[in-house]
Amino acid sequence: MDIILLGPPGAGKGTQANRLVEHHGMRQLSTGDMLRAAVKAQTPVGVQAKEVMDRGELVSDEIVSALIDAELTAMGPQVGAIFDGYPRTEAQAIALDEILARHGRSLDHVIELEVNEDALVDRITGRYTCANCGEGYHERYKRPRVEGVCDKCGSTEFKRRPDDNEATVRTRMQEYRAKTAPILPYYETRGIVTKVDGMASIEDVTHSIDAILT
Ligand code: AP5
Repeated sequence: MDIILLGPPGAGKGTQANRLVEHHGMRQLSTGDMLRAAVKAQTPVGVQAKEVMDRGELVSDEIVSALIDAELTAMGPQVGAIFDGYPRTEAQAIALDEILARHGRSLDHVIELEVNEDALVDRITGRYTCANCGEGYHERYKRPRVEGVCDKCGSTEFKRRPDDNEATVRTRMQEYRAKTAPILPYYETRGIVTKVDGMASIEDVTHSIDAILT
């Protein structure tokens, strides 16, 4: 099964993708994570992407679609894919269809996480992750069970994303409204879009998505 998690910055795409990986044995394909890895490794793609990401704008369609194509080639046909943060433009949606067809795959569901915009800024500016395993936390909504110690791997080091400041978040939201939200009708005409209340608790959002997938 191949699905897209669609929603604005901070809607909970990464949080839910992680849980789906555990529940359904699927693979998370996050273009944001791939680009951050490229920035960290200072690859040519990373060097090109860094300034664009720091401004909160979108990296070129060609770059992100090539990353997705390469990941699908590496993971093989047996494992279901969760597209997290991709596609984000109409050109990427068209490219994804072409890529999936080439890999003998097709989309089963597009799950749109609906969240009110004030909550998004609060979620993103309070977010941090384990520096070792990447487990996500939030200052108010998801703290480690033992303060300062990652639940998953026991590390005591945490980090924040450079684009998680209020000014950049506002630009990321504008980009979402202008370029990403308009691709929904592309999938709605196929009858594969389901809206999920992303304002519910993390657990409840997972239950809603599980119900769609099973
Ligand atoms: P990307 O990494 O994709 O960031 P994003 O879409 O802005 O989304 P986020 O990761 O910020 O949010 P999320 O929805 O995953 O929320 P999360 O689960 O973390 O992209 C970053 C940049 O890379 C882009 O700006 C662009 O430059 C570039 N890029 C990436 N893909 C691209 C593409 N396809 N094309 C072009 N450029 C691309 O949750 C947020 C917080 O809220 C967490 O702390 C979490 O614990 C908390 N939370 C989650 N769910 C709930 C809930 N239900 N209740 C309470 N708190 C919750």
